[in-house]
Amino acid sequence: MKEPPETPDATKPQGYIQPLGKIGQYDLLKKIAEGGMGSIYMARSTKDKSVVAIKVMSPLYVHNPVLLKRFEQEYRVASKFNHPNLVRALEFGTDNELPFLVLEFVNGESLGVIISKQGKFEELEGIKIIAQVAKALNQVHKDKLIHRDVKPDNILVGKNGIAKLTDLGLVKEILVGDLNLTRSGRGLGTPNFMAPEQFRDAKNADIRCDIYSLGATLYTMLTGELPYKSVNPLETWMKKVQNDLPTPRELNPRISERTDWAIRRAMDSDPDIRPSSCREFVEDLVGKSTRKSTVTTPALDKTEAKQPIETIWFMAYNDDQGKQHAVKGTAKAIRRSFKDGILEDPLKYKLAKSVEGPFEEMKVFPEFRDLAVHLTKPNSTPNSKTQPADPVPNPTSEPTRIMTGINRSKSGTPPWVFYVVAASTIIAISLIIISVIYLK
Ligand SMILES: Nc1ncnc2c1ncn2[C@@H]1O[C@H](COP(=O)(O)OP(=O)(O)O)[C@@H](O)[C@H]1O
Ligand SMILES: [Mg+2]
Repeated sequence: MKEPPETPDATKPQGYIQPLGKIGQYDLLKKIAEGGMGSIYMARSTKDKSVVAIKVMSPLYVHNPVLLKRFEQEYRVASKFNHPNLVRALEFGTDNELPFLVLEFVNGESLGVIISKQGKFEELEGIKIIAQVAKALNQVHKDKLIHRDVKPDNILVGKNGIAKLTDLGLVKEILVGDLNLTRSGRGLGTPNFMAPEQFRDAKNADIRCDIYSLGATLYTMLTGELPYKSVNPLETWMKKVQNDLPTPRELNPRISERTDWAIRRAMDSDPDIRPSSCREFVEDLVGKSTRKSTVTTPALDKTEAKQPIETIWFMAYNDDQGKQHAVKGTAKAIRRSFKDGILEDPLKYKLAKSVEGPFEEMKVFPEFRDLAVHLTKPNSTPNSKTQPADPVPNPTSEPTRIMTGINRSKSGTPPWVFYVVAASTIIAISLIIISVIYLK
């Protein structure tokens, strides 16, 4: 890389940016960020004048085979996709032994920067961004790849509102050993967004770890808080496997019950509980099928197309004598019946959109899935489940919220520790008093 002249060139027209230097066929215009492996620049091609982003590897890392592999990997993966929500890689080259990666330029900021500047997002705005990233991830997953590093810093949001997922250097093919080395070598950043199984069993982690991270990203967007913040990695992991995290609604009561549930499901410690695809996660968030959108995973239910807004549902169940019954109603009325306790145990009922069926389990339908999928209970072993959509504290009901706050041990310190400490203190004081009396 050639060194730049220091002063602006007054002989050039207005708007012209004095290059900082040159790499390959590109003039480096501005440093955008200092990344984990090097610097990221805004640059301009000297050939066609197109503006690009260039990641230049730091000279410190050019002999590190793991990081070199990661760099190449990012090019290989990011160049083969042509998706509006994935940052495309355009070229991979070396200049003076410095590897560099040319990327499509995104005129905007990372989600991480946006959150730190503006705080939390409105629910709908957050979901709109996550839905775009879900489409990109879906494409990655269809290609049998896992991103493994989904987090706000790796999502770029353009001034046009288009969100793009980037940093594809950690996709699945990298060996576990390499991955760990990468982590310890340059600190992959915060473990807050990683699924618990990524710590435990990275080799067998599947697309559901990306779904976890996408859920954790939305958690941060809507609450303004990092999940599992201010604790060490071991405690983070312990808390993760126990689902010991304030719910999104505890931190931001404006979040709807559905979104709260969808985020908690995506971040469940048990991957089997999470949505099985990014599309399913978005369905959970919006409460209806996304089949007509451009999300391209296979449809969950072939009968979903072109339904009127107020669909009438048919619900089949057997009574205590085993006699079959069917009732019909709107989704709203059916949901209300469960919430009010008029109907119990959602697993007993099957639903269809026509009287002829096919009748399917409630969890098949995004409209009712929150009633039928059992999440792992907080502070429990991974196998104990709780009823879904437990009445989430009413945002206006202060006493309920306060009680929830008291019941949850935010510090993670079990109550017995306090009893032991208190008892030891009393014994110690007693001993001191007794010895003072006897010494006299
Ligand atoms: N294509 C791009 N267009 C604009 N800015 C980018 C682009 N790629 C990266 N950046 C900026 O650089 C930062 C780090 O990029 P990233 O790909 O996540 O690299 P790292 O491997 O260092 O994590 C991003 O958060 C963003 O601010
Ligand atoms: Mg990154």
